[in-house]
Amino acid sequence: MSDQSQVASRSAPAAAPRVLLLGATGTIGRATARALVEAGAEVVCPVRPRPDRETVAAAVDHEGALGGAKVRFASVTDRNSLVRDGLCGERFDAVVSCLASRSGAPKDAWAVDHRANLNALEAAREAGAGTFVLLSAICVQRPLLAFQQAKRTFEAELMASGLAYSIVRPTAFFKSLSGQIERVRQGKPFLVFGDGELTACKPISDEDLGRYIAACVFDESRHNQVLPIGGPGPAITPKDQGEALFRLLGRSPRFKHVPVALLDAIVGGLALLGRISPRLAEKAELARIGRYYATQSMLLLDPATGKYDAEATPSTGSDTLFAYYERVLNGEATVERGAHSVF
Ligand SMILES: NC(=O)c1ccc[n+]([C@@H]2O[C@H](COP(=O)([O-])OP(=O)(O)OC[C@H]3O[C@@H](n4cnc5c(N)ncnc54)[C@H](OP(=O)(O)O)[C@@H]3O)[C@@H](O)[C@H]2O)c1
Repeated sequence: MSDQSQVASRSAPAAAPRVLLLGATGTIGRATARALVEAGAEVVCPVRPRPDRETVAAAVDHEGALGGAKVRFASVTDRNSLVRDGLCGERFDAVVSCLASRSGAPKDAWAVDHRANLNALEAAREAGAGTFVLLSAICVQRPLLAFQQAKRTFEAELMASGLAYSIVRPTAFFKSLSGQIERVRQGKPFLVFGDGELTACKPISDEDLGRYIAACVFDESRHNQVLPIGGPGPAITPKDQGEALFRLLGRSPRFKHVPVALLDAIVGGLALLGRISPRLAEKAELARIGRYYATQSMLLLDPATGKYDAEATPSTGSDTLFAYYERVLNGEATVERGAHSVF
């Protein structure tokens, strides 16, 4: 049974639940807004004011993109603004957070992945909400980076909050595995670290993940759980991704192998320079993020063995990465890489 039908048939309460959704302008936030509305929720989305969003017309446009969810301008990094302009003194049944720092830089990560989520938790209490659903990431299983530590810190605070929680830790998003479509189409080789099989993941589409997150609001069996989740089918390596792209283009595979040692040298060099320049310290963190994803699988980690386990990684949905590649190549879908390309 799909997450959508589970929502409709098994657990939806009689009155439309009121859901406050944060991060609704992001990739997964938008998909989650649509899924929540489809599931019958009344959804209110505080979004940060920006010049291009400040008119009434822009708010109505957003509401269209969000499936009819209501948009309000509020700053989630400012608790008073969130309560005053986001909640507006209203009652909510659940809060869903798809917030994420756009840069992954330490300061931004602590401000958004931790502090803004904490504001949302306090707002949830103020609004009488009994449930909090958090979009996290499977990579926090092995937290070596600042943004992962910020997320883990908030996860712990959420678990201790007394609210019913679902912490959703997805594997890899399609947008993050689509950065080389254009270069391969242009006849260039597909870049891989090492032999292209250092890592694997079970990619999940925006829509499948949005439905999974929305179902967490209604399905009590998902409450008080940490939920690692991937898409359908077997785990896929970077080499598999490259081979699929060449197959879809009707060409013979061509790979360029990049040694991980090169990333080590870049991380080391930037870290050294970062001691004298905050800008370069931030770049060093971005390089560390790159190295992390080049060497760590986005799969369930077995704490006993310290190894990633594809078989044990749960799956949901029906969209596959390679069908998405085909749609992008045919011009039926576009890759939205967003303000940064590290996640
Ligand atoms: N990419 C992957 O493969 C992958 C896999 C697993 C998990 N994840 C996790 O998923 C998350 C990324 O999800 P996504 O791609 O949907 O994110 P996204 O598209 O970057 O969206 C981020 C959302 O957070 C909001 N936000 C960020 N900084 C803000 C601030 N200072 N004030 C107010 N709002 C702010 C953004 O609002 P604005 O539109 O106003 O900027 C946007 O709504 C990350 O936590 C990542 O670790 C990613």
